Amino acid sequence: MDFLDLVKERQSTRKFDTNRLVEKEKIERIIEAARLSPSACNAQPWHFIVVDQPELKDKVGDAASAKLLGMNHFTKQAPVHIVVVEEKVNITSGIGGMVKDKHFAFVDLGIAAAHITLAAQAEGLGSCILGWFNESKMKKLLNIPDSRRVILDIIIGYSAQELREKKRKPVSETVSYNSYKS
Ligand SMILES: Cc1cc2nc3c(=O)[nH]c(=O)nc-3n(C[C@H](O)[C@H](O)[C@H](O)COP(=O)(O)O)c2cc1C
Repeated sequence: MDFLDLVKERQSTRKFDTNRLVEKEKIERIIEAARLSPSACNAQPWHFIVVDQPELKDKVGDAASAKLLGMNHFTKQAPVHIVVVEEKVNITSGIGGMVKDKHFAFVDLGIAAAHITLAAQAEGLGSCILGWFNESKMKKLLNIPDSRRVILDIIIGYSAQELREKKRKPVSETVSYNSYKS
C-alpha cells in the first residue's frame, strides 16, 4: 500500500471488535517496527510492555479510563495494550539534550509510537495512543519501578469504527517554504 494511504487510514480507534483477539505474529511485527525506530544518538530510551493477558489488560484498561470524567471509556474493549516506559538515555543523547535544552527521549518515544500505530494499521488493526492514564496504578499493575516514567499506553485491536475524515489545520497555516510564516 502507498505510504500516504496508510497514513490516511490510521486513525485513533475508540471502538474495537471485542470478539476478535490479535494474532501474536502481528504484535511481534508491530513491536519490531517500534524497536527499529530512530532515536537521538541511537539511545533507544524505551521499554515496551505488551499486555495481552485478559484479566491484566482489563485492569490496565481501567487504569487508563475515568468513568466520572468520561475519559477513555473505551479502553477495556482493546485486547492488547503496549505500554511505553521511558528508559534512561545514553551519555551522548543526555549531554546533547542538556546542551541543546531538549528532552530527546520524548521525541524518541513519540517516533516509536508513530511506528507502532502505523505498523498496526499495516496489519489491518486499529490503535489509539493514550497519554491520559493513572500512571501510579499502571506502575503497580506492571511492576514498573518508581524511577521510571510511563509515557504512553497504546491500545490495539480490530477496529469496529468507520473511517472518519481527518480534521487538520490547513497546509497554508502549518507549512512554509524557505522562511518561517509571516
Ligand atoms: C501524545 C498523545 C496522547 C493522546 N492521548 C489520548 C487519550 O488519552 N485519549 C484519546 O482518546 N486519544 C488520545 N490521543 C489521540 C488524539 O486525540 C488523536 O491522535 C488526534 O485527535 C487526531 O486524531 P486521529 O488520531 O484520529 O487522526 C493522543 C494522541 C497523542 C499523540
